Amino acid sequence: MADIPESANKGLENIVACTSEISTIFDVTLLYRGYTIEDLSEHCGFEEIVYLLWEGKLPNRAQLDAFSQDLHQSMNLPSEFMPVLEKIAATQAHPMSKLRTAISHYALLDSSNVEDISPANTRKLALRLTGAFGPIVAALSRYEQGQKPVAAQPGKTIAWNFLNMVRGKAPTAEEERLYDTALVLHADHELNASTFTARVVASTTSDYYSDIVGAICSLKGPLHGGANEAVMIMLKEIGSMAKVDAYVADAIDNKKKVMGIGHRVYKNGDPRARILKELSLETCKKAGLEEQHRMLVRIQETMESKKGLMPNVDFFSGLVYTALGIRSRDFTPIFAMSRVSGWSAQVFEQYANNRIYRPRAFFTGPTNLKVKPIEQR
Ligand code: COA
Repeated sequence: MADIPESANKGLENIVACTSEISTIFDVTLLYRGYTIEDLSEHCGFEEIVYLLWEGKLPNRAQLDAFSQDLHQSMNLPSEFMPVLEKIAATQAHPMSKLRTAISHYALLDSSNVEDISPANTRKLALRLTGAFGPIVAALSRYEQGQKPVAAQPGKTIAWNFLNMVRGKAPTAEEERLYDTALVLHADHELNASTFTARVVASTTSDYYSDIVGAICSLKGPLHGGANEAVMIMLKEIGSMAKVDAYVADAIDNKKKVMGIGHRVYKNGDPRARILKELSLETCKKAGLEEQHRMLVRIQETMESKKGLMPNVDFFSGLVYTALGIRSRDFTPIFAMSRVSGWSAQVFEQYANNRIYRPRAFFTGPTNLKVKPIEQR
């Protein structure tokens, strides 16, 4: 067998697969359209971020109001969709599999020309889907728990509505702000696996909805979006602060992955984890989750000192959602509810400057076989 060429790259590490103006990991932070995530998460709401990602600039007041109104209109799900969601929720599937099927079905209810991948049409479809995403996640969650979905309230933000819909209880201003910040932090992230998936599907000039369904399938995995739920499972398994050190030592000795730790690109820490760690402390204290917060900090410190590995966005996000009263089965779907904004922006960009993705595989199998008649095999 020939030697594997140096250009072969398992995991495509450091491979530049496209150009993009949307987001990038820059120095020690993350930029959306040139603004740092620290600046954006402090000063902008999720609706503003969606506008920024899609349009390339921050909206003025009139633009934001008009855009939010359009986006919020699609929070009202079609009535014929509700029994479908109820049936999907009643299956035994993983929440992300339910979400995948639900979004795929929602696409079928769109009677417009969804095959039209022009900029104007893809933006129209993205508005329809991005506004509906939270209500779909919330309805699936409530049906799964034997509860009726809660209707959207016009004039309220996506963050407010989602918390109200999923919990059946209006959020405080502080809760709304924290959840809104979590949405902002998850909105886009350069060429991560699900975004790359969306761009690969888009590169075939497939339709917008297919691009997003492909991305959802990719986000589902525990090495990607599934890690936030896995962190909470890990905290439960550890049980208490007193057992943290032994758990981490065992993970290091036995080369077990500690969920929410490590990142392909950030080697000095993920800025989104730093923001969530700081913002979540007060809410965790109020929710009686201070010990869990301290456990995470201890895991973080130990992994950093022993392995040089730092937390990623998923490390603190699960605890934030728990403190907000969201159950862990909904964590990865709510990652998607934010990331749909970034996937959409990236798909617009892919369609605008397209070439089909078609890399090569280095063949390591045999090349000299001949077919034997079936009776002789
Ligand atoms: N716990 C323990 N060790 C880890 C680790 C973790 N979470 N993440 C990476 N490592 C170790 C690897 O075992 C490897 O060690 P080795 O060189 O001794 O074999 C080294 O760090 C490099 O890791 P690698 O798996 O090559 O990193 P990657 O770039 O391929 O993968 C992640 C990046 C994020 C998938 C990986 O860090 C991971 O699986 N993290 C846990 C899941 C997670 O939190 N995902 C959310 C991502 S936002």
